[in-house]
Amino acid sequence: MSIVKWVFVVVSLFILGFVGTNTTTYATFTPADNYLIACGSSQNVTFLGQTYTPDSLQSSSVSFKSQENENSFVITSNSTAPFPIYQSARIFTTTTSYKFDIKQEGRHFIRLHFYPIPNQNLSSASITVVTEDFVLLHNFNFHDYNGTYLFKEYAINVTSNSLAITFIPANNSVAFVNAIEVVSVPENLISDQAVSLSPSGPFNGLSELALETIYRLNMGGPLITAQNDTLGRTWENDVKYLHVNSSAVNVSVDPSNIKYSTEVAPEIAPNYVYATAQTMGDANVANVNFNITWVFLVDPNFSYFVRIHFCDIVSKSLNSLIFNLYINTDIALGSLDLSNQAGHLDVPYYRDFVCKTSVDDPSVLTVSVGPDTSADVINAIMNGLEIMKISNEARSLTGLSSVESLLVLPPKKNKARIIIGSVVAGVGVLAFIILCYCCLVARKSKAVHQGSSWLPLPLYGNSLTVSKMSTTSQSCISLATSNFGRFFTFQEIMEATNKFDETLLLGVGGFGRVYKGTLEDGTNLAVKRGNPRSEQGQAEFRTEIEMLSKLRHRHLVSLIGYCDERSEMILVYEYMANGPLRSHLYGTDFPPLSWKQRLEICIGAARGLHYLHTGAAQSIIHRDVKTTNILLDENFVAKVADFGLSKAGPALDQTHVSTAVKGSFGYLDPEYFRRQQLTEKSDVYSFGVVLMEVLCTRPALNPVLPREQVNIAEWAMTWQKKGMLDQIMDKNLVGKVNFASLKKFGETAEKCLAEYGVDRPSMGDILWNLEYALQLEETSSALTEPDDNSTNHIRGIELGPLEPFENSVSMIEGDDAEDAANSAVFSQLVNPRGR
Ligand SMILES: *[C@@H]1O[C@H](CO)[C@@H](O)[C@H](O)[C@H]1NC(C)=O
Ligand SMILES: *[C@@H]1O[C@H](CO)[C@@H](O)[C@H](O)[C@H]1NC(C)=O
Ligand SMILES: *[C@@H]1O[C@H](CO)[C@@H](O)[C@H](O)[C@H]1NC(C)=O
Ligand SMILES: *[C@@H]1O[C@H](CO)[C@@H](O)[C@H](O)[C@H]1NC(C)=O
Ligand SMILES: *[C@@H]1O[C@H](CO)[C@@H](O)[C@H](O)[C@H]1NC(C)=O
Ligand SMILES: *[C@@H]1O[C@H](CO)[C@@H](O)[C@H](O)[C@H]1NC(C)=O
Ligand SMILES: *[C@@H]1O[C@H](CO)[C@@H](O)[C@H](O)[C@H]1NC(C)=O
Ligand SMILES: *[C@@H]1O[C@H](CO)[C@@H](O)[C@H](O)[C@H]1NC(C)=O
Ligand SMILES: *[C@@H]1O[C@H](CO)[C@@H](O)[C@H](O)[C@H]1NC(C)=O
Ligand SMILES: *[C@@H]1O[C@H](CO)[C@@H](O)[C@H](O)[C@H]1NC(C)=O
Ligand SMILES: *[C@@H]1O[C@H](CO)[C@@H](O)[C@H](O)[C@H]1NC(C)=O
Ligand SMILES: *[C@@H]1O[C@H](CO)[C@@H](O)[C@H](O)[C@H]1NC(C)=O
Repeated sequence: MSIVKWVFVVVSLFILGFVGTNTTTYATFTPADNYLIACGSSQNVTFLGQTYTPDSLQSSSVSFKSQENENSFVITSNSTAPFPIYQSARIFTTTTSYKFDIKQEGRHFIRLHFYPIPNQNLSSASITVVTEDFVLLHNFNFHDYNGTYLFKEYAINVTSNSLAITFIPANNSVAFVNAIEVVSVPENLISDQAVSLSPSGPFNGLSELALETIYRLNMGGPLITAQNDTLGRTWENDVKYLHVNSSAVNVSVDPSNIKYSTEVAPEIAPNYVYATAQTMGDANVANVNFNITWVFLVDPNFSYFVRIHFCDIVSKSLNSLIFNLYINTDIALGSLDLSNQAGHLDVPYYRDFVCKTSVDDPSVLTVSVGPDTSADVINAIMNGLEIMKISNEARSLTGLSSVESLLVLPPKKNKARIIIGSVVAGVGVLAFIILCYCCLVARKSKAVHQGSSWLPLPLYGNSLTVSKMSTTSQSCISLATSNFGRFFTFQEIMEATNKFDETLLLGVGGFGRVYKGTLEDGTNLAVKRGNPRSEQGQAEFRTEIEMLSKLRHRHLVSLIGYCDERSEMILVYEYMANGPLRSHLYGTDFPPLSWKQRLEICIGAARGLHYLHTGAAQSIIHRDVKTTNILLDENFVAKVADFGLSKAGPALDQTHVSTAVKGSFGYLDPEYFRRQQLTEKSDVYSFGVVLMEVLCTRPALNPVLPREQVNIAEWAMTWQKKGMLDQIMDKNLVGKVNFASLKKFGETAEKCLAEYGVDRPSMGDILWNLEYALQLEETSSALTEPDDNSTNHIRGIELGPLEPFENSVSMIEGDDAEDAANSAVFSQLVNPRGR
């Protein structure tokens, strides 16, 4: 954060205090993450009062990862660039990522600056930029762009402790970038909700979507640059978007007059924005009753987030200014009286909407304000406006390609080699890694053990990556270092688990036994104690570390550390207080989960799997997706477990087959079974089974049932195809589920269970559909009373021709020891309540 900006903040607060507002209420925002990178530069670059540091390896902490050896080079220009940050660029010849350590999860601005430095052939470059989850730019090139440079701003919720921004050049071309900014956004700047227009209703789930700033206007005021905005935003004047320029007249007051309230902090928009506005043009027109309309060119294929800023800087008294706000032809706010909202004059106020483009002309979005008939004074006002594009189903902000399809994965043979394996093999590899590292660690172990510090291990040692951690700069961008986990002494583990007390046993898996542990500071752990098995070659060493350390995600159970003393093989994971999802579905006494909870859990699990499939540089296939491998934490946040160990080295065909045989029956992809070829779509199939299980609360396989009912996938599909899935769903849900939401859920599960992998959706698509189902459910519950018998709801289904749920004895699916253990536990709970 530049000093200039801080001075600005301090000064403006002082002024505010001086005019009598509450100075104490605003804590100024300090971004936890604040990376300003001048790509390809060899020195610091100052632009708009901010200092951009070079990304070059020699001088700073930036590193890259690329698929091939020669990944990038640098060019500079000395005079012609419009701004200092455009004097250098980094050119990528192969897919290359910048990775940023994220200190605080949540929304971040990602700002990208592009300028095709003249005489460098860059205007033929074709640029594709993706993050782990979203496509930001796809095949952009300067041929069909009239501007001399391109500036893009995105706001993306980063939900892990790192963010990779990947540049993908097109075939036989290059990609480039001049500057990158990654800056934390205040948590409450963009909430999860907005008001949706046509159809009107609440819109939830914004936090999961990516936003791209398309327009940000300071109505009736000058250009405000990053320098004058605490969040580094740029606000431009609105005049060129006015439909009829004489319809508006600008007004302004001294910015120090603006009185921020507890609802609207200065971070929402700087006081320069609220201190100017457009109001209705002079009444020198025939009909005083008209709208001020702004017209914006937009891509018709997207939805938009629209935030309107108001501040009554024109009225002399309260309740005199009453007007209407329209977005396209929809009335967004009718008879808006700012006095009622803000309570005082000069107090900022804003509202958020989600809308599509205009029905009349889909290539534009219009925003209008006009007088309300109930007002004494004929006037209307607008101070600021932001329009942001919302990512689509493909999780893209441009086109329909998903990240998955754009990141060219390594050739098939490699992929297969990397993915398949068994838990045992994985553990073997781990054992070996740990043993090898033991020697290294032992020397430093004092330090490591005491401060509970983390042991950084080099990553990507086999690809061409160089790393350098910055010790001076507060920025720390690093791809090349990562945490493998904390080292635990065997003594610590013994204490934590009370000497492996059997009453603390959480489960038994193929790998070994899992105990609950508690550290001295009260942190709970899940401690997995394995038996050392056959070792794997050193070749797998790095690959294994690489994968384990990359797998960090809110919806994956994370590895906290390990212990390898006394030839022990102990892995320490985060503890999941609510245990496996299955135990909340059937076979126990837990209260039934609500439909919303179920959707949220499925979304969480889908998110975790989506990350496995697309988040890491190499796609990872879980191979054993099932309700016992989806764990719930104390807040019922779902996390996928038992990943990462499912991959192994090259001696593969056998492992492959045996894995197949070992996989959990009932969840097994029939295509995988036939062709023995594992793909992400196998996980999708298993996930489809999970969805059906969640809906019907019965095991995936239940051999005691009549033949046609044994396999949930087949059974549920016959009902889904008839559109009567509600007939076999959990009786606890009957009458409490929004029909549209259920329908969406059923369709999604059906697609997952498609016979052929190619017909199944990606996890990204599933995620989107489930979120949509959740949104439908939330919208309906927001609109209807709880006990309402409206047609939105499925009426009570009387019946039960089927009583399959009575017989939840069979935990026969899968031959995992883990399942056997679970069934042992569950079999004590015969005929649980409600089934
Ligand atoms: C400042 O805030 C406090 C507590 O929120 C409130 O009691 C007080 O009236 C405010 N002062 C002014 C001048 O608004
Ligand atoms: C570049 O900027 C960083 C951070 O502002 C600062 O720590 C560093 O000393 C600067 N380097 C030079 C060469 O000015
Ligand atoms: C600056 O640009 C001019 C013309 O483009 C070139 O001749 C000169 O060598 C450049 N100087 C440096 C230091 O790059
Ligand atoms: C410029 O780009 C074209 C096509 O992309 C390529 O054939 C040519 O070699 C490039 N020229 C230079 C000087 O890089
Ligand atoms: C680019 O600008 C030229 C004239 O300046 C104009 O004729 C052309 O339509 C513009 N192209 C695009 C894609 O905007
Ligand atoms: C790149 O080239 C390969 C092989 O020539 C081709 O299959 C692929 O479609 C091309 N990709 C693009 C984006 O043009
Ligand atoms: C980011 O996403 C997480 C998980 O989806 C959510 O809990 C959080 O509130 C989001 N943050 C913001 C600022 O939207
Ligand atoms: C406000 O209106 C006046 C008169 O029309 C004009 O000269 C001035 O440029 C406008 N200011 C802005 C910021 O648009
Ligand atoms: C923006 O900041 C600069 C420098 O701090 C100042 O000179 C200028 O007046 C500011 N502009 C606006 C519109 O606030
Ligand atoms: C309307 O706005 C355009 C662009 O800002 C300007 O060129 C034109 O002179 C304006 N017309 C009137 C009547 O003010
Ligand atoms: C919108 O999508 C359609 C196909 O889905 C495509 O043909 C069209 O070009 C897209 N429009 C824009 C502006 O990208
Ligand atoms: C203002 O625009 C809205 C939406 O297009 C329209 O319904 C309304 O009639 C307009 N009002 C006036 C006074 O033209």
